[in-house]
Amino acid sequence: MQVVTIIILLLLCKASDFRKTRNRNLRKNEKENILRRASSTVKRNAQAQPCDIYVYLHEKYLDCQERKLVFVAPDWPEDLKHMLLARNRIRKLKNNMFSKYKVLKSLDLQQNDISKIESQAFFGLNKLTTLLLQHNQIKSLSEEIFIYTPSLNYLRLYDNPWHCNCELETLVTMLQVPTNRNLGNYAKCAYPIELKNQKLKQIKADQLCSEEDRQDPRNIKQKPEATKPEFDSSLCHMYVFPVPTLNCKRKDLKKVPGNIPPDIIKLDLSNNKIRQLRPKEFEDVSELKILNLNSNGISYIDPAAFSGLSNLEELDLSNNSLQNFEYGVLEDLYFLKVLWLRENPWRCDYNIHYLFYWLKHHYNVHYNGLECKMPEEYKGWSVGKYVRSYYEECPKDKLPIYPETFDLDKDDEEWERHKENFCLFCI
Ligand SMILES: *[C@@H]1O[C@H](CO)[C@@H](O)[C@H](O)[C@H]1NC(C)=O
Repeated sequence: MQVVTIIILLLLCKASDFRKTRNRNLRKNEKENILRRASSTVKRNAQAQPCDIYVYLHEKYLDCQERKLVFVAPDWPEDLKHMLLARNRIRKLKNNMFSKYKVLKSLDLQQNDISKIESQAFFGLNKLTTLLLQHNQIKSLSEEIFIYTPSLNYLRLYDNPWHCNCELETLVTMLQVPTNRNLGNYAKCAYPIELKNQKLKQIKADQLCSEEDRQDPRNIKQKPEATKPEFDSSLCHMYVFPVPTLNCKRKDLKKVPGNIPPDIIKLDLSNNKIRQLRPKEFEDVSELKILNLNSNGISYIDPAAFSGLSNLEELDLSNNSLQNFEYGVLEDLYFLKVLWLRENPWRCDYNIHYLFYWLKHHYNVHYNGLECKMPEEYKGWSVGKYVRSYYEECPKDKLPIYPETFDLDKDDEEWERHKENFCLFCI
């Protein structure tokens, strides 16, 4: 019986030994297999997947879709107009990544793995009109990123896990400017829960950012450091004589360029597409004496837009879409001498009074073009005449609050002759 047991045990041992060697062999084979498979993948990628470059309707295309790309290759031709990079594995857009492609018009980066876009990633893309970033992993983005893409008019951002908090405020504000109607449509918040599925186009800025958030110093610290982008000097011409001048006329700009050299005295931003002036837009150019914003389509000026421009002497806002000035817009302009206001659709209602009174108080400021365009009832009137008619009905015993030292145009002169009949600016 014992002998039998011993024999059986011995046999079992043998069997297990056999299994071990077999396993060892198998493992070795497996490894080799994997290696072989891997090398064939590498080979297949290397051979069969070069990007296609072709010309269609005189424009050069790069088709590099679905190539498992993780970066932008350095050897692509610089005169590409369209770059198709969809369905790759790009995770991060680094500063200056596309700066060689100065004539690029469209950039398709949809269905990648992008979660980070550095602040100067789009540097040099002055001609870019179309940017596709949908189906990525982007949680937050600052509007600053788009300072280098002044021609952008089509931007896809949907299907990204947007975190709708204070950091997203500038982007949301940009998307909601009425003229940006093809930027960021359908993009929705993924976080926080309360805002989930709300569209970035529709969300209110104060839902993103409560007053406390703004004031809480911790939140300010959390914000990514707002590194000012380098001034792109290729955009504008700079002259040193006779006075330091920056000429950015007709450059298709949608914003006041960042980081303008601080010693500039004269800045020409006329004939661009700057539709609104944001707070502290000119804070870093406090030496500025002449600012030309003629022909931009400006419809809104933030009350703090001109803050810090205490040396400004001449401001040209002609041929824009201004209907009035919000209270405060002109308060920092202590040394203003000339204000051009022609060709704006000034609306003669109570909101125009601030501008009128400011000019009246600052009677040494020479201005022109303050004529009612709306409503129909006052069309063609000088704003002065309108404001006076507003108070015409005042009882005669009230005193005028504002001195009669006013730059007179024809209507005013006529009115001046009859002013005894009217009551002036009584409250
Ligand atoms: C006024 O501005 C528009 C663009 O906003 C431009 O097309 C037009 O030429 C400008 N007119 C003058 C007289 O400068």
